[in-house]
Amino acid sequence: MKTAADRLILTGMMGSGKTTIGRWLARTLGWVFIDIDREIERQTGKSISQLFAEKGEAFFRELEKEVVRRLEGKTGCVIATGGGTVADPYNRRLLARNGRLVYLKASAESLAKRLKDTSDRPLLQAGDVLETIRRLLDEREAAYSAAHWTVTVDGKPPAGTVQEILWRFVENGVQVLDSSLGVFAGPGSLRNLPQLLRERRVTAPVLFLVDERVWKFSQAWLSEWLEKEFSGCSPEIVVWRPSERKKTLATAHWLWGKLHELRLERSGAVVAVGGGVVTDVAGFTASTYKRGVRLFLVPTTLLAQVDAAVGGKTGVNFGGAKNMIGTFYPADAVLLDPLFLLTLPGREFRAGMAEVIKAAVLDSSAAVAFLQRESRAIRQRRLTELTRAIQQAVTFKLQVVKEDLQERSGKRMLLNFGHTLGHAIEAHFGYRIKHGEAVSIGMVAAANLAVQKGLCSPALAASLEALLRRFRLPVQWPDLPFTAVVERLQHDKKRRQGKIRFVLPEDFGAARIAEVDLEVDLRPFLEQKKTPESTGLSSQRSSLTSR
Ligand SMILES: NC(=O)c1ccc[n+]([C@@H]2O[C@H](COP(=O)([O-])OP(=O)(O)OC[C@H]3O[C@@H](n4cnc5c(N)ncnc54)[C@H](O)[C@@H]3O)[C@@H](O)[C@H]2O)c1
Repeated sequence: MKTAADRLILTGMMGSGKTTIGRWLARTLGWVFIDIDREIERQTGKSISQLFAEKGEAFFRELEKEVVRRLEGKTGCVIATGGGTVADPYNRRLLARNGRLVYLKASAESLAKRLKDTSDRPLLQAGDVLETIRRLLDEREAAYSAAHWTVTVDGKPPAGTVQEILWRFVENGVQVLDSSLGVFAGPGSLRNLPQLLRERRVTAPVLFLVDERVWKFSQAWLSEWLEKEFSGCSPEIVVWRPSERKKTLATAHWLWGKLHELRLERSGAVVAVGGGVVTDVAGFTASTYKRGVRLFLVPTTLLAQVDAAVGGKTGVNFGGAKNMIGTFYPADAVLLDPLFLLTLPGREFRAGMAEVIKAAVLDSSAAVAFLQRESRAIRQRRLTELTRAIQQAVTFKLQVVKEDLQERSGKRMLLNFGHTLGHAIEAHFGYRIKHGEAVSIGMVAAANLAVQKGLCSPALAASLEALLRRFRLPVQWPDLPFTAVVERLQHDKKRRQGKIRFVLPEDFGAARIAEVDLEVDLRPFLEQKKTPESTGLSSQRSSLTSR
């Protein structure tokens, strides 16, 4: 991954979040984090307040200068400066060498609020806190603003600030995963969108459908970038709050209306920026309006990046069933940018990991070994390893779907590993369990069924379970009896004369489609399942069934 410089330096007032943001950035880049104040404390064995009280500010500033000098030339690090460090031009110059200085800008009022109960800030010990902060900000504003970038932190969750800094810092290191299907991946890959639109000869206008939560986190940099890059093609930005309930024809109808108002021609484009609900509904709308306009997908959840947005399926829910109405309509381009995943809630991230693990199990032992080896880095969303995990999963999915884009030959059925029982669990618990969580349990069950049928070794099933646990995914069979599963499988397309076709693993990288007899194989298997760990879920009739 290429970055604009070899180190990042955070400046700004005390209380602006330099330590929290700095640690987060370092973790994401796989770099070390250095806090100048902590370095001084370590070196002297005294707290900053003690040093100020015993030796005075001038002495402290000398020590600070010494640490800055010592850090000169240190690369692969994120440095949090003290509030006054860059007020000294010498420090500023030295820190900026090989680095990018970022000013975390906060208003005096928000800083005062954050610092009101603090007792370890020597400069705030006397007088009114707000007044002191205002004075210090006045004195230092020019020095802070000399940073390469200013990022406003007020009213923004830390994840949004981290993402904004990395959007500026990470240089476009995109990889082409499939040129014929136009699938690209890598941090900052979104930057390729304008060029792709030009290559696909898109003429104005362009409608952007953006997930409201993504907009909340990313608006500061995303709106600035859209304005700069798309001013020539009158972009229409529609911010929408997605939900499975709203993935309907009524939403598609509303979007058709927007396209009609814009007088969008077939050479115009829809760009979807969001999770699987947004990419599915935008894809369906684009594929049907004027028999198909240009479509570009920027999936922002892990599930959408490794599954929903690749493979060419679009859809909306209908008549109580998921994805009942839809089209096969591969997008003109799909941009998989892991920077979006930095703001994704933990549960959504873990649910997406189930699909990443599924692809690795079907793909090869090398793919599984990578996830085992790098599980910590991936869990921490370190960009290099996370990008590779996405690339690995998507490359595998593309290999499978490419030969069968319209799902005619049944080749894509392999991708259903873990899904047959997963869907039953999801539906039984009324979709309060996430799809990925249900697939995780479904994969473990399928692996154990394979062991029971003598198709794979118990060690393989145990290894799969351990991997899922590493990513904090559920693996225990829930309180779901055989009869309820059979009821849920009633409409399964893979069911025939009391038998159902399951994808069962034989090894990592080898799976087969095998017939499982509901009475002979599945009943004893499920009836011996206890529920030692409660999922905290009670069954409920769902309003949606899954297809
Ligand atoms: N077309 C296909 O082949 C295919 C395959 C698998 C799944 N799907 C569909 O995908 C949908 C599920 O997708 P999903 O899991 O992405 O759900 P989703 O789109 O509902 O997104 C999950 C949540 O994450 C939020 N979110 C999205 N990006 C975010 C970000 N970067 N930061 C913070 N929050 C963010 C969303 O607002 C939402 O609350 C289902 O409708 C499913 O049917 C389609």
